[in-house]
Amino acid sequence: MQVCVFENAAQVGKAAATLIAAQLIEKPDSVLGLATGSSPVPCYKNLIEMNRQGVVDFSRMTSYNLDEYVGIPEDHVCSYHRFMNDELFDHVNVNKANTHVPSGLAEDLDAVAAAYDEDIVKAGGIDLQLLGIGRNGHIGFNEPGDKFIPGCHVVELTQSTIEANTRFFDSEADVPRKAISLGISSIMNARKVVLIATGADKAEAVRLSVKGAVDPQVQASILRTHPNVIFLLDKAAASQL
Ligand code: GLP
Repeated sequence: MQVCVFENAAQVGKAAATLIAAQLIEKPDSVLGLATGSSPVPCYKNLIEMNRQGVVDFSRMTSYNLDEYVGIPEDHVCSYHRFMNDELFDHVNVNKANTHVPSGLAEDLDAVAAAYDEDIVKAGGIDLQLLGIGRNGHIGFNEPGDKFIPGCHVVELTQSTIEANTRFFDSEADVPRKAISLGISSIMNARKVVLIATGADKAEAVRLSVKGAVDPQVQASILRTHPNVIFLLDKAAASQL
């Protein structure tokens, strides 16, 4: 695994955008695995600018997002469908028909999850997976547990994640208790993984992922066994390494 430490979050965002841009320049019909949360926002801002300047073309790419809350409408201000439109898709020359975010609204979420994994395989697999990391080491919404769950699945969110994500909602009570998330095999099958972590509140999760044992209690630790993974960190997130 490669670990790159930058001075600040703005540089991390630029570095991540550069890797995604390189991927799309080399292979315009790439399948990207995309992430939500605050960490990728600077990256997306840079990609929007590169698209405006004609450096990056999104018209032929396909994307699969990592996760979505269960039970909130797609146009809800906190839904990940809405986030991706607001933060990236509405501002670049993407064909929205080629963008995918799992539905957290379907009656049969297990069927949605199975179909999502199948679609990714049919699309040829993920070329580049962008990830953030939770304070508890989660990736996507794969929460700490006694195993790594391979496929897309419905997750009960932990109290730590509910608290961390309360900042996006009016109150803690409004944070959905469940989500649908890509599983660990789907993430590990990506040909390249780019993880972004910024801020001191990620330092412990980063240390445990990079230096601790491969342990499902810290789901990101499995990435150490991936043949092509890069962690892009700011100084604060790298402060315990
Ligand atoms: C959320 C998302 C993750 C994200 C993580 C960190 O719960 N499901 O995909 O990586 O939390 O979010 P942030 O970047 O806002 O700290």
